[in-house]
Amino acid sequence: MKKIAVFASGSGSNFQALVDAAQANQLSYEIALLVCDKPGAYAIERADKVDVPSLVVSPKDFASKVDYEKEILQKLNDSGVELIVLAGYMRLIGETLLSAYEGRIVNIHPSLLPSFPGKDAIGQAFQAKVKVTGVTVHYVDEGMDTGPIIAQEAVRMDEDETRESLEAKIHQVEHLLYPNVIQKLCSTNRNV
Ligand code: GRF
Repeated sequence: MKKIAVFASGSGSNFQALVDAAQANQLSYEIALLVCDKPGAYAIERADKVDVPSLVVSPKDFASKVDYEKEILQKLNDSGVELIVLAGYMRLIGETLLSAYEGRIVNIHPSLLPSFPGKDAIGQAFQAKVKVTGVTVHYVDEGMDTGPIIAQEAVRMDEDETRESLEAKIHQVEHLLYPNVIQKLCSTNRNV
């Protein structure tokens, strides 16, 4: 069983999907910790409900990003976390975590990267009137949504699509794809 930490800043629906998939099937990962940088985020409530410990840390309470990430790193080490799973964590990962978890940090992004990186990828794709967008799971490097791609799934944009309906379709795909990918990463003998 691989121990993972999920990092979230908001609603945490992907965190929930990872929890639900692990509960419904015999999966090879255990969510040891939720890390959240936004006190009051709904993800924290979700973690409480399923008895996943959470670490809530505000960067503004630290003198530097290095200090902020050192605090997180300490907790990750204490909890035996082997893989960091970003799920709506609205912050670039800094040098401290990147070097400690090199090749062991993944992210999910709601577009077919390298198209529409950064914020509001669903809105960007909708505005661009593309016919196909989708979801990407990738390794994290120092850039914004730039690391090596692990998996992608396409989502068709229909003629009568609204921003809301597109968002719902994307989330549905995310909630199936992310647990699958994490399961694969954790069940192989790779060093994650
Ligand atoms: C997801 O769309 C994910 O792809 C992006 O942020 C969103 C997080 O949603 N990185 P949630 O907090 O998991 O509901």
